[in-house]
Amino acid sequence: LEVNWNTESAMKNGFPHFMLKEIHEQPDALKNTILPRLVKGLPDFTDDQIPDDVLKNCNQIHVVACGTAMHAGMAARALIEPLLRIPVSVSIASEFRYEEPLVDDKTLVIIISQSGETIDTLAALRLAKHYGSKTLSVVNVKGSTIARESDYVLYTHAGPEIAVASTKAYSVQLAALYMIGCRMAYVRECYSKDEARDFMKELLDAIPAMEAMLEKKELVKDLVSHLIQKPDAFFIGRGLDYAFSLEGALKLKEISYIHAEAYAAGELKHGTIALITDQVPVIAIATQEKVFSKTISNIREVKARGAFVILLTKENAQIEKGVSDIQINIPDINDSFTVFPIAVILQLIAYYASVGKNLDVDQPRNLAKSVTVE
Ligand code: AGP
Repeated sequence: LEVNWNTESAMKNGFPHFMLKEIHEQPDALKNTILPRLVKGLPDFTDDQIPDDVLKNCNQIHVVACGTAMHAGMAARALIEPLLRIPVSVSIASEFRYEEPLVDDKTLVIIISQSGETIDTLAALRLAKHYGSKTLSVVNVKGSTIARESDYVLYTHAGPEIAVASTKAYSVQLAALYMIGCRMAYVRECYSKDEARDFMKELLDAIPAMEAMLEKKELVKDLVSHLIQKPDAFFIGRGLDYAFSLEGALKLKEISYIHAEAYAAGELKHGTIALITDQVPVIAIATQEKVFSKTISNIREVKARGAFVILLTKENAQIEKGVSDIQINIPDINDSFTVFPIAVILQLIAYYASVGKNLDVDQPRNLAKSVTVE
């Protein structure tokens, strides 16, 4: 046991939990995933043996995954569909595998899995291949079953992720999906060479924005006191911010056991706002310029019903005083890339809520790191 303790402690590099270590590893994980594929400023998958014609000739994309990986797909869809102007859908693997999905030999099915062993995702991969679709998987574990059975693999290079709650895997999955979207836009002439280069530069610029969020640990540690006494919490947002809120809610649920729900901010008024009281804190995400004022209106709605509001938004955002109780700013980067600094804040909120409740952060109850049984 003594040896295990030493080994485990050494593996945490001095961090109290693997999860906090892995949150801190994200900037390096992104560099290790992006830089090997950057050739003359463009995303290039030659070494990954992903041919351009696979990215060029499909007429729709179907993303299939579970949990956090599915949330990465949701965020990537919000970016890729308007960019490529082809249908991009996201399915939960355990649903997809029992459906009769409208996929065929003109569909690119993108499978996302950190472990590469998730049984539902593997079954979805096999079904997609049965329908003749080309399959491209985004996987973090080399030689895993999903990687071996996919037509093409874009490996993420996050290193081993030990904590059950996925953190660095989520951000490198997004980086990989963003690179796929950018390469597809380039080969399909949705992007000029300069536009593709600008995109990749902005993707790299998101890395220092993530590092800046790691400096906000104390601020987050303080604010979770407003969460951990309450049984419920809501995460709200619109567009990409809604996709981020899905991941924020899952993180908080799975390691702090607070019942958290992600909700499209504009949909609250259609019933669910009945649940908002002064006992239900709301984490609102407002980083998307296009829907910013609408999200602020939704925040006013929940505030008027007594909610304690924690607002995640960009520095320099023009917001009147009193709209939220606590405001956490991220750097003023391009809207499409705010997921990277926002992810760090959402991960830290969940982490400090779990620590504040003295729970087992790395091995939460009922959960396994990879769900290899149905
Ligand atoms: C992530 O925080 C969860 N532990 C879980 O949802 C995970 O993302 C899901 O089980 C998928 O795992 P995979 O990426 O290894 O396929």
